[in-house]
Amino acid sequence: MMPTQQLNSLSINYKIHFLNYIISAFGIIRINIVTLRSDMSLKDSIQTEKLPSHIAIIMDGNGRWAKKHSKERTFGHQNGVTAVREVTEACAELGVKYLTLYAFSTENWARPTEEVGALMELLVYTIKQETETLLKNDVKLNAIGDLESLPEKCHDELMEAIEATKHNKRTTLTLALSYSSRWEITQATKQIAQEVANGNMNPNNISEETISDHLATKGMPDPELLIRTSGECRISNYLLWQIAYAELYFTEILWPDFTRENLYDALVSYQNRERRFGKVSEQLS
Ligand code: FPP
Repeated sequence: MMPTQQLNSLSINYKIHFLNYIISAFGIIRINIVTLRSDMSLKDSIQTEKLPSHIAIIMDGNGRWAKKHSKERTFGHQNGVTAVREVTEACAELGVKYLTLYAFSTENWARPTEEVGALMELLVYTIKQETETLLKNDVKLNAIGDLESLPEKCHDELMEAIEATKHNKRTTLTLALSYSSRWEITQATKQIAQEVANGNMNPNNISEETISDHLATKGMPDPELLIRTSGECRISNYLLWQIAYAELYFTEILWPDFTRENLYDALVSYQNRERRFGKVSEQLS
């Protein structure tokens, strides 16, 4: 038999343990509720009726992300695919009609041969892997740029996925590949000049719409929101004509770390801005 004093101290110990358990469990529940609430409120504070119809993104910082993790640059590109998936799914879920990603610029051809090769292989692999998910999420794949300059395998895989997803309606995901805005504008100018030379177009009738209709983005609305990750604050030859009135959003986050919550942040920032298009506040209803 245990002495009464010992029994009492044992039961006190149990009570303390039990109380600690309740307090810590409650703490966990509380933390979870708080986390959930902050995630939910960010998404909930997005006004669906004020969503941009087109978001363009300059996915930057893969190389620095890899360096931060003491890995090769290609490791950063591989991890960038997770962010591509997440942002595409979030856009489809929210109902953003167009998402355009700068995946490979004309200037990127000048990178070391191994990196270019690895990026092209990653594209082939990712397009193949993700087609099923694109179909599931009703996402139509599209591409702009000098697509003929892509390696044959990459070009063919891309065309196959574009064909497979062509009836999807929810969101159009456009990959800018071997793309630069000056290249695109030069192409458009050549086509317009040719139409004038052929006598099919009167130069006096050339309007802003004529230019837009000769760009690779023909038929798409101009992006209302342009996001660039990694803390760089420049446009780097991306959609120069189309972003004339876009809201610019720069974030320090490196692309592989970019999550759907970061996209919600960008959308909340966008929705809190006053878009005046050259007018004064009082003229906006
Ligand atoms: C810029 O980071 C990123 C690129 C040039 C490539 C983007 C490619 C991906 C995110 C992966 C595949 C994409 C798709 C659509 C399947 P950087 O290399 O310039 O980074 P740094 O400025 O830190 O060096």
